[in-house]
Amino acid sequence: MGVTAMVNQKGGVGKTTVALGLASALCAAGRSVLVVDLDPQANATTGLGLWDPPLTVDSLLAQDRSGSASDAVLTARWDADGIAAVPAVLASSPRLAQVEHQLVSDVIGAQDRLDGVLGDLPDDYDEVIIDCPPSLGLLTVNALFAADRVVVVTEPAAWSADGVEQILRNVERIAQRRGGRPELAGIVLNRVGRTRDAGYWASEMTQRYPEHVVEPHVKLRAAVAEAAAQAVPVHALRRSGAGEAAAELDALAEVLFGPGDPGVSLGTAESPEQGAEGPEQMDRRHPEDRTGHGSESVVDLGGSPRVDASPQVPTDSGSPSDWDDPGSDARGASTVDPEDVLAIPVPQRFG
Ligand SMILES: Nc1ncnc2c1ncn2[C@@H]1O[C@H](COP(=O)(O)OP(=O)(O)O)[C@@H](O)[C@H]1O
Ligand SMILES: [Mg+2]
Repeated sequence: MGVTAMVNQKGGVGKTTVALGLASALCAAGRSVLVVDLDPQANATTGLGLWDPPLTVDSLLAQDRSGSASDAVLTARWDADGIAAVPAVLASSPRLAQVEHQLVSDVIGAQDRLDGVLGDLPDDYDEVIIDCPPSLGLLTVNALFAADRVVVVTEPAAWSADGVEQILRNVERIAQRRGGRPELAGIVLNRVGRTRDAGYWASEMTQRYPEHVVEPHVKLRAAVAEAAAQAVPVHALRRSGAGEAAAELDALAEVLFGPGDPGVSLGTAESPEQGAEGPEQMDRRHPEDRTGHGSESVVDLGGSPRVDASPQVPTDSGSPSDWDDPGSDARGASTVDPEDVLAIPVPQRFG
């Protein structure tokens, strides 16, 4: 139980995606979760199905009323089919960016406003997850002042370790002022593809922080991107790769948050459709996908309000089977994973 901040000053590494994936895993196990969206881009808010939330965290921070957050809690509009519960949400809006500027002029209460407005609210939930913006500015500092734990989300790429180092220094400085809180719960490697480049940087990160890089890593999968983009919990998504992604997130949630109540361990919660099956046994794929991988584009966002323009998430080339089966070596000329183009042999680049 506690408040966990998902941080990295870099955007696009998967803070929001992993936060929502972990929330999905916890909810699937029947745990109560509050997601606090502290990013003015409000990706977690929309990923939780809230497009025009009536109450948002920016007004709470602006008013600075102790304990006021309990009046602003919304319920995620996640289709609960496939998971036992849905998260509660403190939603964000672009106005949060202005509030961050205003905070700068508050010489006394700039750093711990979030902690103040949350008050005792975290006690009502098994886990509170704060999705931070891509900066180490005052919003992230507020998250760190409200958090018991920090999860650093990063990707296996050049310079990532330098960014992590900077975050850890900030966390350390705040922990010194707060009697040891927040603690580092772990460094999560996300978007781990099966290129040599990804493998190289993943092992670099693990060697640099052997005690903090947690496993499993979150693999680069179309299903993970699609779940967040379509405001569906990974555990309720029916497409190839969704079952594997859900099982991965269950295992990661157990490492980061512990096993929970005896008898309701992560990934074994019952739901109307799932019965008592665990994720390993379940086939969550759409029936049409069950005879093999579908031939749809990797991330078909068709009409979704969230369009993913990330260069590492190709929508018009590559094949879902390449993405969703990181162990497979079977590739044809028409199914070349575009990431492989980036896999410059390690000795040339780093030797
Ligand atoms: N494991 C993953 N597999 C595939 N796509 C991912 C994965 N994690 C993140 N993404 C995609 O990468 C992009 C950036 O992720 P996001 O969670 O928004 O990052 P951040 O919150 O750190 O800015 C999004 O489009 C998301 O769908
Ligand atoms: Mg984000």
